[in-house]
Order: sequence, then structure tokens, then C-alpha cells
Amino acid sequence: QEFPEAYEICKQFTLTEDQMFEVVDRLTKEIEMGLRKETNLRSTVKCYITYVQDVPSGKERGKYLALDLGGSNFRVLLVDLKSQTDVDIQSKSFVLGKNLLTGSGKRLFDYIAECLAEFCIEQRIAWDNLPLGFTFSFPCKQTAINKGVLVNWSKGFKCPDVVGHNVVQMLQQAIDSRLDLRVRVVAILSDTTGTLMACAQRQPNCRIGLIVGNVCNACYIEKTENTEMFQRYQTSRKRNMIVNCEWGSFGDNGVLDFIRTSYDKSMDQLTPDPMMQTFDKCISGVYLGEIVRQIVLDLMKKNVIFKGLMSQAIQTEWKFESRFIAEIESEPFGQYRSTAMVLNSLGIRTCNEKDLACLRYICESVTRRSAQLVACGLVCLIRKMNVCKSSVGIDGGMYRYHPNYHRLLIENMNILLKCSAEYELVLSEDGSGRGAALVAAIYSCK
Ligand code: BG6
Repeated sequence: QEFPEAYEICKQFTLTEDQMFEVVDRLTKEIEMGLRKETNLRSTVKCYITYVQDVPSGKERGKYLALDLGGSNFRVLLVDLKSQTDVDIQSKSFVLGKNLLTGSGKRLFDYIAECLAEFCIEQRIAWDNLPLGFTFSFPCKQTAINKGVLVNWSKGFKCPDVVGHNVVQMLQQAIDSRLDLRVRVVAILSDTTGTLMACAQRQPNCRIGLIVGNVCNACYIEKTENTEMFQRYQTSRKRNMIVNCEWGSFGDNGVLDFIRTSYDKSMDQLTPDPMMQTFDKCISGVYLGEIVRQIVLDLMKKNVIFKGLMSQAIQTEWKFESRFIAEIESEPFGQYRSTAMVLNSLGIRTCNEKDLACLRYICESVTRRSAQLVACGLVCLIRKMNVCKSSVGIDGGMYRYHPNYHRLLIENMNILLKCSAEYELVLSEDGSGRGAALVAAIYSCK
């Protein structure tokens, strides 16, 4: 009320029930197009076939290696599946320098193999020829559980000679060229699949794997008969197939323009891939901070908030990090210590509580829309699967570290589902480690 201009802006970030239902319908349409051979090319949601057709039986045992490439950290993991509930995980994170992300594919995979060797030697398993599950969280066209052709890079990776190639083969070649390591890459999967599998190990009714982190994506269990892009779908005896939606690009054809604001558009212009990853850009950690900054700067320029104050940092693109949003919203209502500290770190020194409350309100509005859109996505999948009871395994920093994200998801899913289905949202622990090991366990002997 204090700031009608800010209120008007934030209103644009609050989706009405009708708008949310419209998003669900439009996403359903894109997913259906993605699943069909005839329309797949035209769909913005490609629905990649993962070749994972089984969920864990609870009997998977043994030692497996996993690589996690595509999240905030590059990690090598050793997973010992001792029993359904007793899983021992050793892991090590490695830094991927910027030159590796944009150089040749050979250099990248040689480095990955080097990290793997270092870890395996430390763990004294370098010669055990252990099966490895490769969590490779980029769009891949798979033709087998251990064959994945990279469609395009994202998340700052750009090695051009990898696109169009089977990354499992590139990794295996890099491993085999070393004299100090014997490892078999038996499966490639995305972090969404790993997340679903890790959750399904303990909750057999888990049917969706969701990532809300630096980027957003989901996979779900589809009936094999609906997966025309699966080359053997007519002959497969297995009922189910995990489909990796790659829904971040939903809206790239304009179907989400009815909910986008001018701030989304200005932020989009600053990204390396304008007009792409539309859904993702309204939801994920990489982008939300910049949307908040765009709004704040606009209001500052109009002399609405933080009157008379300005700083270099607040005028600098991407300087408002998404983790600030979680920090600001973590503070109890009526307290502004963290909010003032965040602003202070951006060169704006103020204790004006009305201004600080306004900043919090902006953050809450941007977060709420993110959760509303993810809720639309989940409800779309739940409806599509037509199951009355299911669990959703979730990972990613945005969900994990934001104090209200879980609650917001539930509130908005309930609005859309209106008690038509029961569901549970479960934080999935270590999908790309335990989940990748489970996939490797299921498929290493097939
Ligand atoms: C991690 C998983 O916990 O979450 C990764 O191990 C995944 O596989 C990541 O990619 C996603 O979250 P963020 O916040 O790192 O993007």
C-alpha cells in the first residue's frame, strides 16, 4: 500500500487460477506433441526417452561409481548399496575451469577421466572394473541405456565438438586411454531420472523426478505405449518408460507470453540464449535474482524506493544473486537485518523499514510465480499419468534452500488439483549419486 507502483508490478507476477490452468493445458499439449513422432519436431518440450523402464526393486546391491555433471558441482561418487536403507556414499567434488567448459570435448572428457582416476586410486578401486552411472544433465537423444547423443549444451558449457556425439563413448574412450583405471560406463541419465530413482528406492509410488535449482526440469513415468519416440515401443514388453521432459524450453514458441512481464524480457536479453528456455527463465535460480534486480532498479530510477540512493553494484547485471532471495525471505516478518545486509553488500546502505519491506515483497512475488509455474508442471504430469496417489522426488538449490518454496508448491498444487489426487513432495537425497548407482545396478547385468 505504501508503494502502489511496486504493488502494480508485483501483481503481474501473481498468476490467477485461470492463468495457472491455462499453463497446465498448454504444457499438456506440448508434452503430448513431444511424445508423438509426427509432432515431436514442432514441440518445445522434447520428452526424451531415457531407456530407464524399471524402478528399483529394493534388491539392488553392490558397489557402483557415479559421475555428476551439470549441477552446481562436478562430482565423482562411489556408492555402496548395502541394503535398501543402508547406502554408503563417498564423493569428491572437482573444479571445472572455464577453459574446460568451452574448449574441446576431448579435453573435457580427459579431465573427467583424470578426476575419476584420482578418486578411484584414493578409494583403491581403480582396477575393480566397477560399473558407472553417468549423470549427464543436458538434453540427450538416447538410443540405448548407455548411448546418448548430446543435442545442445547449456549452463555455460560450450565444447562444440561434443554436440551430435555419443557422450558415453567419449567418456569411455577417455577412461580406456588411461593406464591406471578400469571402469565400465553402463548407463547415462539426467539428474531428474537420478532424483526419481533415488526417491523410488524408498517410496515405490514415486513417479516424478523434479529439479528446481540453477535450472528446472522434470521426468515422469509414462506408459511405454505412449512413447512413440522409443524405437522399440511396439515390441517392448515393459509397461513403463521414464520420460525426461526437458521442459525448460516450454514457451519458446510464445505460448507463455501471456504471463511474461517486461522484466522477464529485459532479463532474457542479458542471457547468452535469448528467446530460449522461457519456462526455465521464469523459475530457476540462475534467473530470479536478475529479475528482482530489474524491478528494484526500475523502482529506484523512478524514485519510488531507496530514494536518493544508488550504487554501482545494483546497476550491474546479475549482481543480485538468487541466494539473496532465500536469505531475505528467511527472515521472520517484521525483521530486516538480513535484508539490510544483502543491500549493504550491494552498496545500498539503508534501514528504512518500508523500503526493506518492499524489497521483500518483490522477492516473494518473484518466488511465488516460480513455485506457481512448477506447481502447474507437476499437476500437468500428475493428470497425464492419471494416478490417484504419487510421490514427487525433488532436488535442486532453489527448492532445498528456500524457506517457503515447499509450502508454496503445495498451496498452488492444491488449488489446481482440488483434492482430485493425493501426492507427496519428498526431498530426494543424492539423486545423482544413489539414483545413478541404482540405474547402473539395474542395467549393468542386462
Ligand atoms: C544436486 C544433484 O543435488 O542438485 C545434481 O546432485 C543436480 O545432480 C543438482 O544437478 C541441481 O541443483 P543445483 O542447485 O545444483 O542446480
